[in-house]
Amino acid sequence: TSLCLTDQHRPQFHFSPAKYWINDPNGLIYVEGEYHMFYQFYPNGTTHGPMYWGHAISTDLIHWEELPIALSPDGLGEIYSGSAVLDVGNTSGLQTGSNPPIIAIFTQASDTQVQSIAVSNDKGRTFEKYASNPVLPSPGVKDFRDPKVFEMNGKWIMSLAVNDSIHFYSSNNLKSWTALSKFGSNPLEGAHGGVWECPDLLDFDFNGHKVWVLLVSINPGGPNLGSVTQYFLGDFDGETFRKFGIGHDLWMDWGPDNYAGVSFSNDPKNRKLLIAWLNNWLYGEVIPTEEWRGQMTIPRVLELTRVDNKVRLASAPAEEMELLRISSQFYEKLDALTINSGSVYTLSDDFTFSNPLLEVDVVLNITLGTADKTATFQFCFFNSLNEELCVGYSYDQNYIYLDRAKAGAVNFHPDFGKRAMATRDTKSKIIEMKLYLDTSIIELFADKGVTVMTAMFFPTEPFTQLKVAFSSANSSNQLTVSSFTVRGLKS
Ligand code: FRU
Repeated sequence: TSLCLTDQHRPQFHFSPAKYWINDPNGLIYVEGEYHMFYQFYPNGTTHGPMYWGHAISTDLIHWEELPIALSPDGLGEIYSGSAVLDVGNTSGLQTGSNPPIIAIFTQASDTQVQSIAVSNDKGRTFEKYASNPVLPSPGVKDFRDPKVFEMNGKWIMSLAVNDSIHFYSSNNLKSWTALSKFGSNPLEGAHGGVWECPDLLDFDFNGHKVWVLLVSINPGGPNLGSVTQYFLGDFDGETFRKFGIGHDLWMDWGPDNYAGVSFSNDPKNRKLLIAWLNNWLYGEVIPTEEWRGQMTIPRVLELTRVDNKVRLASAPAEEMELLRISSQFYEKLDALTINSGSVYTLSDDFTFSNPLLEVDVVLNITLGTADKTATFQFCFFNSLNEELCVGYSYDQNYIYLDRAKAGAVNFHPDFGKRAMATRDTKSKIIEMKLYLDTSIIELFADKGVTVMTAMFFPTEPFTQLKVAFSSANSSNQLTVSSFTVRGLKS
C-alpha cells in the first residue's frame, strides 16, 4: 500500500493528529453546529515540548478536521490544559459580534503556573488573549493548573488542580476569581500517589436527587501503573464539594491508557460527554509511532448507575458510534456456545476480518459445577504471527483483564507488557462486555460501563481472527457464551 510504514498503527475512528505530539483534550465545547476539541499540542516534535492548543472540529464527534493552532505560548508561558465556555450573557464584556463569544480558560506555565483567558468571536477560528492576563496569579505553589469552568446559578465555577488537591473558585465575569473551598488535602480523600490534574465537576440527576461527581486525573498512582482518572461521588452546594462516605478509591477507567478526560460544555443533547487522552505518561513519549504520538478516546457518555446496591459512574460509547456500523458486516451471533474446560474455540471463517475495525458484544454466563480457583475465560484477537491481544475474566477473583504482553511491540518500556486488571464492583456471574477495536486501540466497557478498560497495542500485522477459551482445573466445568456478536466498522 502507499501507507508509510510508520502509519501501520494509525487508528481510524479515533482522533490522532496528522503529525506531532498531543496530550490532554482541552476546551471541549459545542457551538453552532460544531464540536470543538482543542488539545495539548507540541508542533515541533513527537514528545512533550513547549505546549500550544491544537484544534479540531467535528459535526459527529467521530470524524475530526484539524484546524490551525488556536493558542501559542507568550511571555506568560506555555499553554497548558484548560476549558472553554460559551459566554451567553456576555458577562466578560468581550463579545464583539452578534453571537456569544467562546472564552477559553487555561494555564500558562513558566517557572510558575497562572490562569489566563482568551476570547473567540468567530466560532473558535481565532482567539485573542485577554489584555490583563493572568486572571488568576500564582499563589507560589508548584502545581496550579487545568482550570475547568462551568456555570451554576448565574455564576462561573472553576475547579483547579493544586498539587494533590482541588481548589474551587467563582466569578461573575471570567476575569476576576474568588477562592471558594478546597478538596483533597485530607488523606482520606482519594488516592495521592501522584500529582492531581485536570479536574471536572459534574452534576447528575439520579433518581430525583442531585449527585455530584468530581473527576480527578492522577499521575502516577493508577491501579495498573502510571496515569489514571479517579472520581468522587458527593455534594456541591455552590461553594464546597463534600464527598459521600469514605469507601475505596474509584476509577473511571481501569485501563492503562485513559487520562485527563474532561466533559464538553454546551452539548445540545445535554449529555455528560467525555473525551480523554488515550495514552499514559509512564511510556507515552516512547510508544512506537513516529509521525505523531497520542490519540483521543471515542466520545463517551457518563451516567450514574447502581450495581449491587452501590452508586457508580458508568461510561458508555456515545450513540454517534453507531454511525460507524457497516450493515453488511454484521456477523451472526454465537448462541449459547458451550465451551468445555481446557478447550479453545476458534470462531468460524465468518469471523475472519481483514480490517481490524470492530465492535464486539459478548455475554457470558459462567456456572461452575465444581468450585475452582483457576477458572478463567478468555478471548483473543490474533494474527498469522500468533501475536495476540486477550481479554479475560478470572472467575474466582472476579476481575476482568486485558493482556497485551504478546500483542506485538512491548519492549520500548519495561511496564508496557504488564497485564492490566479491573476489579469488578458486582458479584454477578453474568458478564456483559462491549468493546471497540481500532488498529492499535481497544476500549472495553463491561458491567454496563462500570468496569472500563482502555489500552493501546502495537501488533506487527493486523489481527484477523478471534478465539475463545475456557480453562479450569476441573475438566467437567463448562462456560456458556450466551452471545458473541462481531460487527465490522468503517472509518
Ligand atoms: C496532564 C497535564 C496537565 C497539564 C498538561 C501539560 O496530562 O500534565 O496537568 O496542564 O498535561 O501538557
